[in-house]
Amino acid sequence: MALPLTVAKAANALAKRLEAGGAGEEILQELAELGRLRQKDLDDYRTNGAVFTPYSVAQELVREAGIDAGDIVCDPSVGPGVFLLAAAEQKFHGGESVPSIIDSLRGIDIDPLTIEVARTTLRLWAAWRGKRWLATDKLIVGDGLLDVPADWYGGCDVVIGNPPFLGQLKSETARDSMRAKALKERFGDLYTAYIDESMLFLLLGVELSSANGTVVLIVPASLLGADSSRPAREWIDDQLPLKDLWVGGRSVFDVAAVEVVAPILKQRQDRNCRIISHETRETIEVSSATAGQWSRLLAVANGTPTVTLAADVTLGDQASVTADFRDAYYWLAERVQEADLQDGRPKLATVGLVDPFCFKHGAVNTRFAKQQFERPVIQIEDDPPPKLMKWLEQKLQPKLLIATQTRIVECYADTKGELLPSTPLISIIPMKETQLWHLMAAVASPAASAWLASVAAGTGLSQTTIRIRASLLTDLPLPLPSESWDEGAHLARQMQEEQADEHISVRFGEVMNQAYDTASEELLSWWISEFQKKQA
Ligand SMILES: C[S@@+](CC[C@H](N)C(=O)[O-])C[C@H]1O[C@@H](n2cnc3c(N)ncnc32)[C@H](O)[C@@H]1O
Repeated sequence: MALPLTVAKAANALAKRLEAGGAGEEILQELAELGRLRQKDLDDYRTNGAVFTPYSVAQELVREAGIDAGDIVCDPSVGPGVFLLAAAEQKFHGGESVPSIIDSLRGIDIDPLTIEVARTTLRLWAAWRGKRWLATDKLIVGDGLLDVPADWYGGCDVVIGNPPFLGQLKSETARDSMRAKALKERFGDLYTAYIDESMLFLLLGVELSSANGTVVLIVPASLLGADSSRPAREWIDDQLPLKDLWVGGRSVFDVAAVEVVAPILKQRQDRNCRIISHETRETIEVSSATAGQWSRLLAVANGTPTVTLAADVTLGDQASVTADFRDAYYWLAERVQEADLQDGRPKLATVGLVDPFCFKHGAVNTRFAKQQFERPVIQIEDDPPPKLMKWLEQKLQPKLLIATQTRIVECYADTKGELLPSTPLISIIPMKETQLWHLMAAVASPAASAWLASVAAGTGLSQTTIRIRASLLTDLPLPLPSESWDEGAHLARQMQEEQADEHISVRFGEVMNQAYDTASEELLSWWISEFQKKQA
């Protein structure tokens, strides 16, 4: 396979300089640049998830992986080989010979042209550092998840790289049914329909790793809390646990602004785990997460206090927690109107209208079905279709409404059952109507916000927001009955009906901390500060 033209030109120029003996340390950047040239050539990097890693980031992760002379290093979606280049350098400075280094590097990529770039990069590196042209026959073309040579399994000391991020909710990156079938056979119960491709690479990494090996792969932060990858996370923790978490942030790649992290998997000597920030270079040490609950570490990195809640009774035991279905949205979209004076029709609720303890209908405009409304209401016909009739009966009851992309829980109590929620709002309908304010107090408490952040950090649209799902809320632990919870319920009502002054919101936080047995200054001041930001 020939090299892409732009890369071939740059590689030839480099080879000539090497042969003339005119190359210094700057050649490293020029070798890494070959990958950048390949990146520019790719028409659509999204389909294959081909976003290459900057050399400085690869160097940083190679250092974190602790690659030693003699280690077998594998990148299972090697791209132009930037991680192997950084690994080769680290090994070279650790005293390993150039032929031994080249022999220790393994890489596979589905794109034959990109593999050719990786081979050329490492051959040029060997010619520079070792004055010899060496074969790079362990850089191969193939599907990393299905075609890795059998003798690579269990034999790699370090598996490192940046696998393709291929989310399964978008058609351009979703796998076809043949591949889905093959991957299901390959990964069994750990495979779920919506699992991101990069999580499957993390599973592969564990299989490739030797018993004392290390796996470091860059993945989207959303994987830390995604439901679809929970079985995979739990399996990994059982095999080669999450030891440390490198938090890359949003600015690692120039072509794609995605929040990224790199789980560092290796056997651990103690119960501690380090969170390493790429942006600030700070390291925090925390106790390791419960099996599969990796998002807690990201929550700590984001400054969310850690809470431990007893899960004897959960919200799902006392209420039905539901998200709405698409048909309801389309039905509402055809019936939404601007309200008249004294309008008694059900009001439309959107996520934009729900704030903590507040429903902003009439106070701010909202967008719905591609239109702006001041006071949207729903005109219901005499006999709605049976499916929607059932939905209306369920929704036109007293309930709590929860916004879904938030920093802290944003909840409003619809005491009269007069609001019709549009997706993605979540409804909580208490089994006993008298429990409405108690459930509001629990869901809106500092403890609930910190708990949700720790199980879902990384799933929101930005680093500090979470995407609240109905399934998560169903599992939210409730406090035991107590006077503090009664007072919290009373204060929640006051906060919604009379607009909270600071004194009431602080008191609400305090009593709900007592109710949850989570009294801590840190939790209270975190929640108050987030609450005030929301009100500002
Ligand atoms: C995000 S890029 C990263 C490449 C390289 N590790 C880096 O960090 O620069 C992902 C690479 O995976 C390759 N790829 C996509 N699907 C693959 C698969 N199933 N098996 C192996 N490689 C794959 C793409 O061609 C691309 O080169």
